[in-house]
Amino acid sequence: MARILLTGGAGYIGSHTCVALHEAGHEAVILDDFSNADESVVERIGRIIGAPPPVVNGSILDGEAVRRAFAEHAIDGVIHFAAFKAVGESVANPLAYFENNIAGSIALARAMREAQVWPLVFSSTATVYGEPDAFPIPETAPTGYTSPYAFTKITVEQILAQAAAADPFVIGALRYFNPVGAHESALIGEDPRGIPDNLMPYMAKVAMGELEQLSVFGDDYDTPDGTGLRDYIHVMDLAEAHVLSMNALLEGRAHTLNIGTGIPTSVLQMHEAYSRAVGRELPMRVVPRRPGDVPRLDADPARALEVLGFEAKRDLDAMCRDSWRWVRAQAAGWRLNDPS
Ligand SMILES: NC(=O)c1ccc[n+]([C@@H]2O[C@H](COP(=O)([O-])OP(=O)(O)OC[C@H]3O[C@@H](n4cnc5c(N)ncnc54)[C@H](O)[C@@H]3O)[C@@H](O)[C@H]2O)c1
Repeated sequence: MARILLTGGAGYIGSHTCVALHEAGHEAVILDDFSNADESVVERIGRIIGAPPPVVNGSILDGEAVRRAFAEHAIDGVIHFAAFKAVGESVANPLAYFENNIAGSIALARAMREAQVWPLVFSSTATVYGEPDAFPIPETAPTGYTSPYAFTKITVEQILAQAAAADPFVIGALRYFNPVGAHESALIGEDPRGIPDNLMPYMAKVAMGELEQLSVFGDDYDTPDGTGLRDYIHVMDLAEAHVLSMNALLEGRAHTLNIGTGIPTSVLQMHEAYSRAVGRELPMRVVPRRPGDVPRLDADPARALEVLGFEAKRDLDAMCRDSWRWVRAQAAGWRLNDPS
C-alpha cells in the first residue's frame, strides 16, 4: 500500500484515479482548490470506495497548503492533475495558464523536494505533438505546440526532466489522448461548464436536449469518412494507467508514455456509437472546419504496454454507455446508480 497525493484529485480524471488507486490497494489524498470541481464529488467518491478520501482544500500555488498536505499525511508519491485545460481560454489568457500550470508545477516540485517525496506522475497530453505528420504517433515523434495550453505541458515535462537530473525525482509523464466516459456507477464523470469543446460531452448535451444538434467540423479531411480521427480512451482505463505508472515510479522506473487505445475513431463513428447508446439517431449537421483542429491524433500505445503492461480494456460502446448513464444520473442529482 502506498499513500498518493492527487493534486486536482477532485477533477474529472483525478476522481476516477482515486477509485482506481483504492481498487489497487493504495490510498488517495486529494489536494484541490475546487476551481473546476464540485465539492460533492468527494462524498460521491466515498460512495464508490466506502469512505471519502481525505481532502486538503487549497491551491498548488499556495506553499502553505501543499506543505500541510505533506505534513498531515505520510505521502509516498504524487499524481499531478491540477491545471487549467481549456485550449481556447489559454489563447485568450496565456498568463493565467503559465501561472497555474507552470508556476504551480514548480511550486509543487519544490514542496516535494522539501518533503523528500520523489515519485511524480504528470498529466501531459497528446497536444505536445503539435501538428504530427506520421501515425500512429510514437513517443519519439517531434514535440511542438499550437496553443499556450500545450506550451505549458511540454514546458513542465522539460522542467521536470531537468529537476530529475539534479534531484532524485522519478517522473512519469503520461501523454493522454482523448479521455471520455465515466465510472460505471454513474456517481462520477466529466462536468464541463458552459458549452463543451469536446465531442462526447457535446453529444451528451444534444442527447439531453440541451443543445439542438451536433456540429461536425469538416467532412473533407483526408480520412476514410472525411471527418477528424481521434483516439478516445475510457477514463477508467486512463485512471488504471496512473496506478501502473505510480507503481513503476515507486520501483524507480521513470517513463514518458502515450496513453491511448491506438484505435482511431472518426466523428461520424462516434456519433453512430453514441446514438446507439442513447437508442435514437442524434441530430447532426456538417459545418466548416474549425481553425486549429488537426485531421488525426492517435497513439502508438506499444511502449505503455511494454513499460507498464498497460492496455486499454474498454471499447467505444462502453465509453458511450457510461457517459450516457452518467449524464442522466447527473441530471437526476446523482441519485440514480443504474438508470439503464
Ligand atoms: N480531460 C482531457 O481531455 C485531458 C487531456 C489531456 C490532458 N489533460 C490534463 O489532465 C489533467 C486533469 O484533467 P481533467 O480533465 O481531470 O481536468 P479537471 O479540470 O476536471 O481537473 C483539474 C482539477 O484541478 C483543480 N485545480 C486547478 N487548478 C488548481 C490549483 N492551482 N490548485 C489545486 N487544484 C487546482 C480543479 O479544481 C480540478 O478539480 C489536467 O492537467 C489536464 O491538463 C486532460
